[in-house]
Amino acid sequence: MKLCIDDANVEAIKRIYEFYPVDGVSTNPSILAKSGKEPFEVLKEIRAIIGEEGELFVQAVAKDAAGMVKDAHHIVDVLGKTTIVKIPCTPEGFKAMKQLHAEGIRLLGTAIYTPMQGFLAAKCGCEYVAPYVNRIDNMGFDGVQVSKDIHDAIVKSGYDHCGLLAASFKNSQQVLELVKYGVKAVTVAPDVIDGFVKNTAIDAAIDAFTSDFENLVGAGKTMSDCK
Ligand code: G3P
Repeated sequence: MKLCIDDANVEAIKRIYEFYPVDGVSTNPSILAKSGKEPFEVLKEIRAIIGEEGELFVQAVAKDAAGMVKDAHHIVDVLGKTTIVKIPCTPEGFKAMKQLHAEGIRLLGTAIYTPMQGFLAAKCGCEYVAPYVNRIDNMGFDGVQVSKDIHDAIVKSGYDHCGLLAASFKNSQQVLELVKYGVKAVTVAPDVIDGFVKNTAIDAAIDAFTSDFENLVGAGKTMSDCK
């Protein structure tokens, strides 16, 4: 399963990349707006951090199919053809996906709130589909269950080219439920990634190990100081 960072803050991306096993970065127009930088300025910075092998997700902003296709061409021209273009799962989006898939452009279907949106995006040739787990929860539905339904529909349809990049998480439990289900990928904000291992019990265990060892061999000593 791939783990991506759902953010465009360059310092946060560098920090998460340094410490955690991550595979890429996803953005959307709101995330880019939060960066306060010109879109392609910050996206080029992110590409430089994650390298060509890192998965970079960038969204088309136009609302009609022709505009989405134009946005997609520009995105891959500037950021490289390994870049995955996010296309909203609307009727115009599906039209754009069919054309872009025929051209060999890598695609993700986004803004997914219903299972059928995910299914149709997979059928249009998307490599990823992105259900918005927490936003669905906030509407009074079950975002994890919607994501599982999309996963099942894709697997049972034999669409091996496609899998989930589940998005919009607000806590570790939502992520864990989908990791256990075997989805293709999740994209998670830096603070939620930090929350995976933020626990006073973990800190207390490490502190006790350090203190016990220092009582044995001396303050500040570690294994490399011992014969
Ligand atoms: O790109 C979709 C996803 O990142 C939305 O997340 O936190 O705005 O619900 P959020």
